[in-house]
Amino acid sequence: MSAENDVLEVTIDRMNMEDLPQILEIEKESFPAPWSPGMFINEMNNPAAQCICARVNFDKKSVVVAYTIFRFVVDVVHLHNLAVKNQFRRQHLAFNLLDVIEEIAKKVGINAITLEVRPSNTAAIELYRQRGFVVKGRRPNYYPETKEDALIMWAYLK
Ligand SMILES: CC(C)(COP(=O)(O)OP(=O)(O)OC[C@H]1O[C@@H](n2cnc3c(N)ncnc32)[C@H](O)[C@@H]1OP(=O)(O)O)[C@@H](O)C(=O)NCCC(=O)NCCS
Repeated sequence: MSAENDVLEVTIDRMNMEDLPQILEIEKESFPAPWSPGMFINEMNNPAAQCICARVNFDKKSVVVAYTIFRFVVDVVHLHNLAVKNQFRRQHLAFNLLDVIEEIAKKVGINAITLEVRPSNTAAIELYRQRGFVVKGRRPNYYPETKEDALIMWAYLK
């Protein structure tokens, strides 16, 4: 898996069980209703799911700084989760993960990606817009904890 980042030396590879404590920390700081450890373990054990991590060397250690989880659903990639550690945001790590998702999708002949996002999540909406995603629909009351709708975004790969 490859990604280029002008600022950080980033390695992108598969998520593993040892990554879980760091991922849970990022998850907690990123979402109002964070995924449980069991949800991550289910995805890691599910052959239909792709679980990818971005790591950088920090304080002489390899640190997980971002991750994404997505599934192939027939001929579409469904993006289930994507988050970047707070102190590493705005360094194009999310762009790096989207590059890898697109690379994997193209390899298996998939050219469409869809996801749900909260209308209040302006950072994520702007990120996805920058990558060619457009809003195609809305799911009412999708997020029970805040009773928010979800915007459904789609991107078609060239
Ligand atoms: C949304 C999120 C993943 C973005 O990660 P990131 O690594 O900071 O994003 P990038 O640095 O790759 O940003 C790429 C572009 O997206 C847009 N963008 C990203 N964050 C933004 C923000 N806070 N405000 C406005 N635009 C933003 C910008 O256009 C940015 O390019 P620029 O920095 O050159 O202007 C991150 O803020 C996050 O983890 N948020 C919490 C979890 C979440 O909301 N996940 C998405 C669920 S659908």
